[in-house]
Amino acid sequence: MLKNLVKNLRPSSTLLINETSKKLEDQGKKIFKFGFGQSPFKVPYDVIEELKNNAYQNKYLPMQGLEKLREVVAKYSSKEKNYHYKSHNVIIGPGSKELMFLLHVIFDGEIILPAPSWVSYAPQAILGRNKIKILQTEREKNWFPSGEQIEKVILQDKHKNYLLFLNSPNNPSGQVCDKLEEISEITKKYNLIILSDEIYSELTFSKNFKSISSYCPEKTIISTGLSKWCGAGGWRLGYFVIPDELNDIKNMINVLASETFSAVSAPIQYAAIKAYENDHSNYIEKSINILSAVGKYVFSNLKSNKVLINEPQGGFYLMPEFLNNKFKTSSEMCDNILKNTGVALLPGSDFGFKTDKMLTRLSFTDFDGQLFMDAIEDNQIIKYEDIKKYAPKIVEGVDKLKKWSESS
Ligand SMILES: Cc1ncc(COP(=O)(O)O)c(C=O)c1O
Repeated sequence: MLKNLVKNLRPSSTLLINETSKKLEDQGKKIFKFGFGQSPFKVPYDVIEELKNNAYQNKYLPMQGLEKLREVVAKYSSKEKNYHYKSHNVIIGPGSKELMFLLHVIFDGEIILPAPSWVSYAPQAILGRNKIKILQTEREKNWFPSGEQIEKVILQDKHKNYLLFLNSPNNPSGQVCDKLEEISEITKKYNLIILSDEIYSELTFSKNFKSISSYCPEKTIISTGLSKWCGAGGWRLGYFVIPDELNDIKNMINVLASETFSAVSAPIQYAAIKAYENDHSNYIEKSINILSAVGKYVFSNLKSNKVLINEPQGGFYLMPEFLNNKFKTSSEMCDNILKNTGVALLPGSDFGFKTDKMLTRLSFTDFDGQLFMDAIEDNQIIKYEDIKKYAPKIVEGVDKLKKWSESS
């Protein structure tokens, strides 16, 4: 009774690894949850209070989202961008993931996905019945495609529409895209639009995040939300910022939103106003200080002549490649790692890499972020002793992984 279109789809591997890790833990095994990535920090206090104060809000809200929320998001999004967004450019959704899905459903053309890409882009593109073109990228080039690679795809048929998914800072590589200008030049020449997935942008370690929308705002849909920087993945609030030039897309997403989720939960939308209106720079700076120190620790202690890694530049992840020829697929290798060390990783094949490339995604968030945050001063230099005390599973898991890499 299932459509052929969905028969080969499986639950999202990131959610699956979480469940597998939990099951093993219930059996009494010590599991290092480096497979699932979610913020280790609590939602800022003022935002939680605002949610409590708005628990009584029980009315359906406008399908595009609360006007006041869209206003503050438009203001927040216009900062350091080459476009003055207004509230009508913003669509609030139950997570950016759902809005991306609706975009796939309405878009008619080819989807260009760099490998690596976040796990859900390809399954969503399949559900949207669009053709997918995967662009393999290289470690030496920061794991992002070049303008030339993208142009080559387009030149195969210049008359089609193309939608490129660009995610920086990147899940899974942890890298920040340094090719924004050359990619934006390609968007200006062809029928190419960009979904700029900026869900980790506030957590860029160097603090100078630049959006591709600064170069080609009229061709860029910005996708982001509360899930990562605000530690509120479970609240399910994300948004798109769509320029006037792509009004048809905005209007049609609104139609589909009205026929599917109707509107995001009212109390969450009211609380989100505070998330974007109040100044949370201190909370974000502390998050970056901790995440960059922990990411650097994992990078420095795991890399070797048997483990290749680029230093993470933002977000929660890095992408180790294990040099061994014992395994046929990265998935088989991850099973072996989990069995022998208790460390849960995701295989590179989940992110679009060929199955025989021994790449993995490691999420360095298995620690109590609130405890860590409360224990350090603003701008404190985080040392090994702090990481050992407040992120002990990171230290132990990395140690086990390193030993495994040396013996395999
Ligand atoms: C790259 C990327 N994009 C989008 C999302 C989904 O975010 P949301 O919680 O807004 O649906 C995630 C969450 O894991 C992600 O890693």
